Amino acid sequence: MTQDELKQLVGQAAADYVNANVPEGAIIGVGTGSTANCFIDAIAKTKSRYCGAVSSSLATTARLKSHGIEVFDLNDIKSLSIYVDGADEIDHSGAMIKGGGGAFTREKIVSSVADVFVCIADASKRVDVMGTFALPVEVLPMARTAIGRKLAALDGVPVLRVTKDGMPFITDNGNEIIDVKGLSITDPRALEAQINAWPGVVTVGLFAARGANLCLLSTEQGVECIDYAQQV
Ligand code: 5RP
Repeated sequence: MTQDELKQLVGQAAADYVNANVPEGAIIGVGTGSTANCFIDAIAKTKSRYCGAVSSSLATTARLKSHGIEVFDLNDIKSLSIYVDGADEIDHSGAMIKGGGGAFTREKIVSSVADVFVCIADASKRVDVMGTFALPVEVLPMARTAIGRKLAALDGVPVLRVTKDGMPFITDNGNEIIDVKGLSITDPRALEAQINAWPGVVTVGLFAARGANLCLLSTEQGVECIDYAQQV
């Protein structure tokens, strides 16, 4: 199977999971990226079961609306039973690197409200130690160089994310992203807390303090469901 087919497989599996476990009339938290897009396209087939969704990016909002799914402001809802999103890497505890698509700050906010975080990924995303995928850090533009120095002191190689035209990539929140290459993340919780504490950092794309509760992982053999509460 191609990676795109694996993404479609897990997107449909996530829609089946949500349809089976989330009550009718609920609002669903929805992530960003190509795997999340497969989930959106799959859940659209049963959209009448739901009140709507809370979105983690402008791109996801546009895709949800294109399917006629109502999008709610997070400020207007009291709770979310489930949040479904992809990841760039996920380790054996359910900690993730996210942010390849640049939406991780909003993803972290929306997922923090949800009772259950379901990560949807193809098997290439599962790793023993995170860091092969560059770790994204969203920063206020005026803090770019100062934060870059601190990241270099962690033995990482900080690189400002740019668009195809060579201009700084600007997030939905009006900030910039530094991608940090060359880290070996042996203690994701500690690193998340450390980087998040630096003035000028909006957030780091490490999801360890609040990782995934479940991972639906698509493989050539089918979709595996990993429940991190059951892991020893
Ligand atoms: C966007 C993300 C995505 O979930 C992550 O980059 C995975 O993307 P894809 O499903 O396209 O591989 O964190 O900010």
